[in-house]
Amino acid sequence: VQTDIPAVKDVLPFDVGAAAGRAQTLGEHSELLARHFDSLTPGNALEWDATEPREGEFTFAESDYLVDHALRNGMKVRGHTLAWHSQTPDWVFKDGDRDLTATPADKALLLKRLTDHIRAVMGRYKGKIGTWDVVNEVVDENRPDGMRRSPWFTITGYDFIRTAFRVARQVDPAARLVLNDYNTELPRKRRAVYDLVRRLRAEGVPIDAVGHQVHVNIEYPAAAEIEKTIELFAGLGVDQQVTELDVSVYTDFVSSYATVPAEVLAEQGHRYKEIFDVFRRQASHLSSVTLWGLADDDTWLSSFPITRLDPPLLFDDELQAKPAYWGVVDPA
Ligand code: XIL
Repeated sequence: VQTDIPAVKDVLPFDVGAAAGRAQTLGEHSELLARHFDSLTPGNALEWDATEPREGEFTFAESDYLVDHALRNGMKVRGHTLAWHSQTPDWVFKDGDRDLTATPADKALLLKRLTDHIRAVMGRYKGKIGTWDVVNEVVDENRPDGMRRSPWFTITGYDFIRTAFRVARQVDPAARLVLNDYNTELPRKRRAVYDLVRRLRAEGVPIDAVGHQVHVNIEYPAAAEIEKTIELFAGLGVDQQVTELDVSVYTDFVSSYATVPAEVLAEQGHRYKEIFDVFRRQASHLSSVTLWGLADDDTWLSSFPITRLDPPLLFDDELQAKPAYWGVVDPA
């Protein structure tokens, strides 16, 4: 790991985090993590399928490893995530072989499971995990009510969000509670998330911050749209975090490079520069920015939306600084 280049966390006015990938025993990555970042997000280890694979059976080996590692290195930890439609075991939405439906009894059962899960998982890391993505990707801007039709919504309506935040607040009053979503840079998604957060906060639901995942590519969406989103939510008086930043080298879902051309990596560097220029301008509204990965050797984009080479982060697969890193650190 290079020691003769500036630490990313030293050149930015907000916490800078990185996500640790699936089943990642950090190894050499731990040096890169401790040197450049002051926050860690376990990318998978705190998902419901990892922590409570069967009802009442909790498995915390991987999450304990990552949380303890971060704390030993004086880092903050972001918890991800307590209620999501993905990476949630099937049993959560079933009663034996029967799928739960929108009856009062099934709704009560599902909300009790959510309550018990949050009390067990957040309770374990009380005082250790300072920020939680309490709910993730609950909005669907293509629906009149703006809500994704996951079992969470079809069975409980908005109550799973109300319950998740209220139980989270009860379990660890000091934790910052986040409603996290993607594509919030796009006008219609931005508006749908904004309306939901404004309405729930007006009811007294304790949403402390909005998380913008910011999974973008080298061209789209415009940096000005990202800035517009941060300015809009600033008007709500709610904190904001960038939670899963990465910059794909593709502008479509079908292309695939055998080797990414140097000029594309240079373009990615300029893109990181313009995005972090926005973050610096909006620093008073952002408490942290997290990259969704440490280095290009472990990124979810290598299998999403298709399997292909897609190096979206600041360090390459040899953990060396890329033009993307210099775009962040040396914006001159
Ligand atoms: C991804 C992980 O990085 C992958 O390892 C996993 O296989 C799929 O999920 N939005 C989210 C993250 O909130 O949880 C997802 O992370 C990426 C999209």
